[in-house]
Amino acid sequence: MKIGIIVYSQTGNTYSVVEKVKEELTNKGHEVNINRLEPLNPNDVHPGAKNIKYKNLPELEKYDGYIFASPVQAFSLAAGMESYFDNIENLDNKKTACFLTKGLPFNWTGGTRAMKQLKELAESKNGKVVETGIIKWLSFNRKKQIRNVVKKIGQTF
Ligand SMILES: Cc1cc2nc3c(=O)[nH]c(=O)nc-3n(C[C@H](O)[C@H](O)[C@H](O)COP(=O)(O)O)c2cc1C
Repeated sequence: MKIGIIVYSQTGNTYSVVEKVKEELTNKGHEVNINRLEPLNPNDVHPGAKNIKYKNLPELEKYDGYIFASPVQAFSLAAGMESYFDNIENLDNKKTACFLTKGLPFNWTGGTRAMKQLKELAESKNGKVVETGIIKWLSFNRKKQIRNVVKKIGQTF
């Protein structure tokens, strides 16, 4: 399967997980492209920011499945990912996985809310969300959480 990973990552945590997801899926025989969203003007990106312009907009039609990955910011989905969905026309009912990274070690400090937002955005564009995951970066067992998310997303496609 040709899988497109669309990632927004401000400080690199989410991106580092995405690289592991790519490796896992590649080892299973998939063709995987990472598309990192880069805002044209990073100073415009802050919690609640709208209409963010990006340096690059991935061509989504060429993929058979999608993975959206983003940090939680200010108890919500990061604006850098939320605003990107304005640019998507249709995910064509294709298999979609979503995962988040967040700092604080509880899902109620923004994780649950941000995942609901991301899932609803993907579904509003006709994506078939089949797997989700949240990695709490400051937890003692971060590595285990990463392994679990990588594994379950690997099994999804
Ligand atoms: C502006 C800002 C707001 C944040 N807000 C939250 C939050 O509400 N809850 C949380 O658990 N972590 C929060 N974090 C921590 C990030 O979610 C966490 O460090 C994440 O792994 C960063 O991912 P990245 O390196 O891919 O940008 C925040 C970080 C920043 C920079």
